[in-house]
Amino acid sequence: MRAAAIRGFGGPEVIEVLEVPKPTPGPGEVLVRVIAAGVNPPDWYMREGMPGLPREMMGDIDFPLILGTDVSGVVDALGPEVDGFDVGDEVFGMLRFPTTMQAGGYAEYVAAPVSDIARKPAGVSHREAAAAGMSALTAWQFLIDVGHDLGSPFQDAPHRPVPLDGDSRVLVNGAAGGVGHIAMQLAAWKGAHVTAVASGGHEEFLRGLGTDAFIDYTTTDPAEAVRGLDLVMDTVGGSRSASFLPTIKDGGALFWAYLAEFSDEEKRRYDVTTSATQVRANGAQLAQIAELLDDGTIRIHVDSVYSLQEARQAHERAAQGHIRGKLVLDVA
Ligand SMILES: NC(=O)c1ccc[n+]([C@@H]2O[C@H](COP(=O)([O-])OP(=O)(O)OC[C@H]3O[C@@H](n4cnc5c(N)ncnc54)[C@H](OP(=O)(O)O)[C@@H]3O)[C@@H](O)[C@H]2O)c1
Repeated sequence: MRAAAIRGFGGPEVIEVLEVPKPTPGPGEVLVRVIAAGVNPPDWYMREGMPGLPREMMGDIDFPLILGTDVSGVVDALGPEVDGFDVGDEVFGMLRFPTTMQAGGYAEYVAAPVSDIARKPAGVSHREAAAAGMSALTAWQFLIDVGHDLGSPFQDAPHRPVPLDGDSRVLVNGAAGGVGHIAMQLAAWKGAHVTAVASGGHEEFLRGLGTDAFIDYTTTDPAEAVRGLDLVMDTVGGSRSASFLPTIKDGGALFWAYLAEFSDEEKRRYDVTTSATQVRANGAQLAQIAELLDDGTIRIHVDSVYSLQEARQAHERAAQGHIRGKLVLDVA
């Protein structure tokens, strides 16, 4: 089969399309003929050799390494001990993350644990379903699945979820991105008042997805524009996360998806819980998300589509930033 893989770490140019053996599904796995694959930040972190992250987080690396965790396709064969799925079923999922970064999604076939997949709704395209996986599960596990305290590898404390309802005031930073555009729709579905923060070109797009308020961070500092929030979901992270602390009311929370930095003084000054979780593969949650995709409660926006052969160009596009929704590879 063909797969987009790397034989060493580096920039987008290290991605090659190679002929590799078709995987064999093990116990509890199905072989999926991949129609579309989603592109996510961990794909390029892995391509780069995860600079700045502890080496042990990568696990053992086998080259050639097929990038990609998110797929949508058709079940082609069943491994032993598989219940609930049959050959011909249309399925999608985020595979094996974070257990391994070598799930092998950018390929014509992938072996998928049935615990990590769900049925694709007929009215949702393979591109949209492939795009949903990691982004939708991240938004779900941060905002909807309040029954867990699973933290991030980058914080010592357990995660502290916050239930949302019609009284909640939520701000999503990075609202036009993969995680952000789903997070804002899920918060709106829960009845929360939603403020989206993104660059100005995304305003019409985000209003179309139901945001109540919009802040263009290129012209307006959110810290000057909003107060009294219950929750900030910051998908951008870094040192700018701290600038959202004054926007949150006492007892509120700031969730960061990527390495937020707070000084001890900032932590002392604000009565705000700062917390993160780590997205985990979960086919049962994807089945719930599939219902919301099917009835139009949430929509997945595809920024741009590349062929498997063009996986390198997809990573070059990602490096330019300002993604609206998701990048997808058409594999079939
Ligand atoms: N904790 C977890 O388990 C987990 C899971 C998934 C992802 N993540 C992390 O979450 C982050 C986001 O992932 P993603 O897939 O959503 O990325 P993405 O699709 O690339 O989206 C990032 C968005 O941020 C916006 N942005 C960039 N700079 C900004 C700024 N200064 N202020 C506000 N918005 C800004 C960009 O658009 P504009 O600048 O044009 O508005 C873009 O839409 C990544 O760092 C990823 O590693 C963590």
